Amino acid sequence: MLEVSPATVAAAYRTLKQRGLVSANRRRGTVVAAQPPLRVIGGPPLPPNTRDLASGNPDPALLPPLGPTLGRLDPKHKLYGGPIRLPELVDLAEADFAADGIDGDLAVAGGALDGIERVLQTQLRTGDRVVVEDPSWPRIADLLYALGLEPDPVRVDRRGLVPDALEGALGRGARAVIATPRGQNPTGAAIDADRGRLLREVLGRHPDVLVVEDDYVAPVAGAPYVGLHGASERWAVIRSLSKVLGPDLRVAPIAGDPMTISRVEGRQLLGPGWVSHLLQQTAVQLWSTAATKKLLARAERTYAERRAALVDALAAHGITAQGESGLGVWVPLAEEAATVQQLFEHGWAVSPGERYRFDAPPGIRITTTNLDPKAAKKLAAALDATLRRAPSTYAG
Ligand SMILES: Cc1ncc(COP(=O)(O)O)c(C=O)c1O
Repeated sequence: MLEVSPATVAAAYRTLKQRGLVSANRRRGTVVAAQPPLRVIGGPPLPPNTRDLASGNPDPALLPPLGPTLGRLDPKHKLYGGPIRLPELVDLAEADFAADGIDGDLAVAGGALDGIERVLQTQLRTGDRVVVEDPSWPRIADLLYALGLEPDPVRVDRRGLVPDALEGALGRGARAVIATPRGQNPTGAAIDADRGRLLREVLGRHPDVLVVEDDYVAPVAGAPYVGLHGASERWAVIRSLSKVLGPDLRVAPIAGDPMTISRVEGRQLLGPGWVSHLLQQTAVQLWSTAATKKLLARAERTYAERRAALVDALAAHGITAQGESGLGVWVPLAEEAATVQQLFEHGWAVSPGERYRFDAPPGIRITTTNLDPKAAKKLAAALDATLRRAPSTYAG
């Protein structure tokens, strides 16, 4: 018998939740958060001869070369009080957004996740619920826990968020939605025109909900952009250049309504101030050339071929997988940990779906950006052998 009052216990739970150490969920009750917002210590380096298909990196051969660009940067110092956005980058980003009918004010964040954090901070309060895709990139949920927000997982199928499930979450009071229009991580889902219309109808009934579109693989996704933000008063579309021009660039243009964008920039001033003009200039130099345009078209084609090669190779073994768009392939199966371990023993490092999922069924995520068709066949054979050894592990 604990000699403390229920009010004290409730206050303790509230504090733990605000600090991201536990998460409360109607279905599962209060549980220790999967990963508290502490520094994440990376795993040990992969042994030699292990193929890294877990990290989600782009293929460096399909990123524009940095060398020729660096020598062309303007070496003049930029001082406090100057414009925080580089006008040439604003022009490029505006044209890029306008080509997809996205018309808004513009800010520049230090990557997609940085942009998402600042957009959420414009409007949400501790304890607010935020719709996240189930399954989704684990850093999104970690970020929400770190901000004292509560993920409200909504299932995605091959065409993105499921409209009825989204309606349910918004009806229960979720205050914001974070969605990837294409290249969904980990499932590769892409919102098509019909699904987009249905989702916009749902969001149209909740115009005060903040809509955040994480268009993080935009031009290399392998699927057209279909937006969600039409009817919302507060919205942002974030197009990180990390997968397109290089993860180290840390540049992500954000389009949004004037209030959201002005609050993003106001909050930025209380942190890093702005994204360094050296980085913004590098982005301009890389993004503006015809050679990069050609390279990105090639990257989009190559990524599509590599996803398709693995999906086809798996199908030849009777294993169903999905990889409609994005940087990898999702294979539904019942036993994630054992499968990942056995593939690792065969020299393949892939990601268990566990960290991505809330209530979604299990699977593994395989980054295919560097996986040529010959290697895809070998991997498919290794996965087949693994699943044959333990047939109950396949859930396709
Ligand atoms: C869904 C999603 N959003 C954003 C990012 C990364 O964006 P950035 O590096 O620009 O923060 C990733 C990286 O894998 C991702 O999977």
